[in-house]
Amino acid sequence: MMTGVQVIAKTAELRERLNAVRTRGATVGFVPTMGALHAGHASLLTVARRENDFVVTSIFVNPLQFDRKADLETYPRTMAEDLATCAACGTDLVFAPGVEDLYPAEQLTFVDVPALSENLCGASRPGHFRGVATVVLKLFNVVQADRAYFGEKDAQQLAVIRRMVQDLNVPVEVVPVATVREADGLALSSRNKHLSAAQRENAPVLARALRAVLELFDSGERSVAEAIARVLPMFSQVPECRLEYFEVVDPATLRPVERADVPVLAIGAMWMGTTRLIDNMRSSSDARTS
Ligand code: PAJ
Repeated sequence: MMTGVQVIAKTAELRERLNAVRTRGATVGFVPTMGALHAGHASLLTVARRENDFVVTSIFVNPLQFDRKADLETYPRTMAEDLATCAACGTDLVFAPGVEDLYPAEQLTFVDVPALSENLCGASRPGHFRGVATVVLKLFNVVQADRAYFGEKDAQQLAVIRRMVQDLNVPVEVVPVATVREADGLALSSRNKHLSAAQRENAPVLARALRAVLELFDSGERSVAEAIARVLPMFSQVPECRLEYFEVVDPATLRPVERADVPVLAIGAMWMGTTRLIDNMRSSSDARTS
């Protein structure tokens, strides 16, 4: 097994180490994660490795962003494997703080981006994006990276972070990275581990429906309501599947669009039994090359 990646748990020690790195003029790339690393995370680490002299990743399951206690408790923790993944991707440093390291006192200050946090996933997860934005700004302030890498898989999270960086003049470049998928289209997620064999087999329905709705736009359909109505029956046949939302929105504002004559983001969340899965796809006219 590959080793050699340095692990630091204390913020003071991390600051000291990174000050030394920056003093020698090295650029720093940062990949925040909650661990349980898979090929999606590895893709972020690989892009960061290519674009920076020094790569830092954080592994921290952030209690502030969990709206369901059971989700926090069952969140997979696989530190040994994660360190091997980081080493294999050429990561220089892993920041793995304990809850008491990052939250030594009760957190009284929060970052809120309400206009981007209240619909879609935010509707069923009150406080989630506030918890994400707050921890990400804390991590940004500790790491002080030149670039930070986020997956398009979490499109609403990406929109919230971008807006926070813009609104608060945070000196970091946010770099989006394309969603990594299984061969059958299912977006990689740490929560896929919770799926039974039957649920796993049916889980690609979300990706298929997102693709189907974009294909309807490609073939000339312009009415969003019409296109969504045509793909929704795909979900009703799937056992244990409950759709939470399925929408077509503006990629930057996340507001619903009625007619697909502009670049759009198709986005959805569904439950397979007790596991919640999310996914999104952008219309091809708006495809990015990152
Ligand atoms: P986590 O779910 O561990 O994801 C870490 C990063 O990996 C996020 O930027 C996410 O979008 C990206 N990612 C996850 N699955 C991906 C996939 N299939 N393809 C490409 N990228 C993928 O997102 C979080 O952690 C947390 O909210 C965090 C930002 C770390 C704040 O706590």
